[in-house]
Amino acid sequence: MSELRCIGCGRTALADRFRCEHCRDLLEITYPGWEERGPGGLDSASLKQLWLDRRCLLDPADQSGVWRFREILPEISQKQVITIREGNTPVYALPHCAKNAGIQQLYAKHQGMNPTGSFKDTGMTVAASFARQAGYRWVACASTGNTSASMAAYAARGGLHSLVLIPDGKISWSKLSQSLDYGAITCQLKTDFDGCVRVLNEVVERMPVYLLNSVNPYRVEGQKTAAFELLEQLGWEPPDHIIVPGGNLANSSAIGKALREMKQLGFISRLPKITVIQAEGANPLVRTIRETGGEKLVPVHADTMATAIRIGNPASWKKAWRVIRETEGTVEQVSEVEIAMAKAEIGAEGIGCEPASAVTLAGLKKLVKQGFVKPGEMAVLVLTGHALKDADFTLKFHRGDLFTGTPYEQESHLLKPLQRSPLVLEPSVDAVIQILRSAEN
Ligand code: F0G
Repeated sequence: MSELRCIGCGRTALADRFRCEHCRDLLEITYPGWEERGPGGLDSASLKQLWLDRRCLLDPADQSGVWRFREILPEISQKQVITIREGNTPVYALPHCAKNAGIQQLYAKHQGMNPTGSFKDTGMTVAASFARQAGYRWVACASTGNTSASMAAYAARGGLHSLVLIPDGKISWSKLSQSLDYGAITCQLKTDFDGCVRVLNEVVERMPVYLLNSVNPYRVEGQKTAAFELLEQLGWEPPDHIIVPGGNLANSSAIGKALREMKQLGFISRLPKITVIQAEGANPLVRTIRETGGEKLVPVHADTMATAIRIGNPASWKKAWRVIRETEGTVEQVSEVEIAMAKAEIGAEGIGCEPASAVTLAGLKKLVKQGFVKPGEMAVLVLTGHALKDADFTLKFHRGDLFTGTPYEQESHLLKPLQRSPLVLEPSVDAVIQILRSAEN
C-alpha cells in the first residue's frame, strides 16, 4: 500500500492532503512494501516484460501508457480509472539539432504527443481518478494553460465538474479554447499565474473541491511513468543527460523520483544527470541555486513569451533541487531569442513543440559550450507541449514580428535564416514554378 509522506519532516498524511499539517512542506507518495517484495510482488525483469506485454492487450488501462505501469503507482480501483490512452509517447532522434548543439546523440521524448497535447495528461489521469475514487464532485486548478486543458478533459471523461483559474490574456488561445471545449468553468483572473494559485488555495480550503495543481502528489506519480517509459524505449540503458523545462518544477521532480525508484528497484544501475532550464525572465530556481545555494526560494516577477513557464514562485522547488543534487545535474537559463531559435530548429526537424519545451534545446547548447555536456554523451530533451499549442508564436516568428516593439528587436536578425514566411502569389503555374526553381538554387 502506498502512503503520503512529508518531504520535510517525514510524517505521514491523509490521502487527500497537499501539505504537511505540522511543517507545511509538500507531500510525496512512498511505497513501504517495495523494499521486501518489490512493486506488485514482482522483480524488475518480470515487471519489464509485463509492462511491454500490456501494450498488446485491449483493456483501456493496459493501453494507457500510464496505467500499464500500475505496479509503480498508488492503487486506484480499476473501475475508477479515467483514461484517454495517455502516455506511450514517441522518442525521436534529432540529428540536425544535435549537430548544431555540438553533440553526437540527441533525442526528444515528446510528451506533447499526449491526448490533450501536453505532458500534463500522464499525471492528470492518476490524480483525476483518485479524485473520483475519493468521492469528489469538483476538481480545480490554476494554470498557464496546459494543466487546465488536461484537467478539463479528464474531468469531462470522468463525469466531474471542473473549475479553471488562468491569468487573463497571458495564455495561448489554443489552450484556453481546450478548457472551454471540454466544459470547464473557466475564470480569467486579472493577475498572473502566481496570483491565480493564491486565490485557488483559499477556494479549496473553503469548498469541497479537489486541487489538481502540480503540488498534487498523485499527478507527480503519473508523470513519473514518462521516465520509466523513456528508459524502456532506450532498452533500460540510461542516457547521460535528461533536460527538462522548469516552471512550477513538478515535472523535473517527477522524473527525478522515477529515476531514484528505478535505481532503487534495480531497473538501472546509474542515474542520468537531470538539468532544469528556465527562461531568463522566469528564473526563480536558477536564482535560488546561484544566490542562496538552494537554501531559500528567490521568487521573481515572471515574464516570458514561453507563457507555459511564466511562473515566479514555483511550488515544487525543493523537490526539484533535491533531484538536481542527487543526479549531479544543474540549472541554466536562456533568453527569449534563444528560445525562439531553438523552437524553430526543433520545428525544422519535422517534430515541433511549444516555446516552453524549446528551452531544453536552447539550454543544451549552452551546456555543451560550458563543457557540462560532452560531445560524446547522449542527451534526451523532454518536450512537454505540442507545436500547435501556441501557433500564434510560430506565425509571428516566421512572419518576422515576434520581437517587434520588445527589447529583443535588435537581436531578431539572428532568426532570419530560420524564418519561412508564407508567399502570396497570383494563381499562376509559372509563378509557382519560378518559386520552386529559386528555392532549388
Ligand atoms: N512545459 C509546458 C508546456 C508546461 O505547460 C509547463 C507547466 C512546464 C513545461 C513546466 O512544468 O511546472 O512541472 O515545471 N505548465 C503548468 C500549467 C504550470 O499550468 O499548465 P513544471
